[in-house]
Amino acid sequence: MQLETGRLILRPWRESDAESLYAYAKDPQVGPIAGWPPHTSVEDSRQIIRNVLSAAETYAVTLKSEGDRPVGSIGLMLGGASNLPLGEKEGEIGYWIGVPYWGRGLIPEATEELTRHAFEDLELENLWCGYFDGNEKSKRAQAKCGFTYHHTVPDVPWPLMGDIRTEHITRLTKGQWLAQRSAHQ
Ligand SMILES: CC(C)(COP(=O)(O)OP(=O)(O)OC[C@H]1O[C@@H](n2cnc3c(N)ncnc32)[C@H](O)[C@@H]1OP(=O)(O)O)[C@@H](O)C(=O)NCCC(=O)NCCS
Repeated sequence: MQLETGRLILRPWRESDAESLYAYAKDPQVGPIAGWPPHTSVEDSRQIIRNVLSAAETYAVTLKSEGDRPVGSIGLMLGGASNLPLGEKEGEIGYWIGVPYWGRGLIPEATEELTRHAFEDLELENLWCGYFDGNEKSKRAQAKCGFTYHHTVPDVPWPLMGDIRTEHITRLTKGQWLAQRSAHQ
């Protein structure tokens, strides 16, 4: 499966993307705020492609202007695959993009297309997103995509980082999405 926007191609991760993944995922400004440790080597990145990023509905974010090289990742965790207690017709969106690409609206652009895919193609009813306390950039990206604050979960144990976090959860319902879409037409 491949998704396309004005500037982006979203396509499945391949093991041959390991070098490009490592180039961005080794930066400590990217993973820890999203809940995962910086990658430690190209081989570490390769393992993560194999074990994590190869999941269904997880896409490498590539820029049409820069060829087929991934610069970020976006994914939809469906139902029980999410850490949130979701029903069958619900999904959680997660994403990141390499630091040199921050601030160009690329993740909102990718999120809008994944949202369309989730509601139209996969026929989901609710989409959820979350950000850890203090992640203002992700909070802003979610707001730009029409997600609104739903609730806060304090004191979430986060074994991958060995700490305890407060997570703010946002939601976009299919009804809200349809209403926003018709308002923009
Ligand atoms: C959160 C993230 C995915 C946003 O992606 P993006 O494509 O840069 O999104 P946007 O361009 O819409 O920027 C979102 C906000 O980030 C802030 N921002 C952008 N570039 C920035 C920079 N270089 N330095 C500091 N803040 C910046 C701005 O407030 C911006 O909002 P604005 O466009 O209204 O000014 C990206 O910052 C990232 O990968 N962060 C680290 C991983 C992460 O937090 N993942 C999400 C976990 S919930």
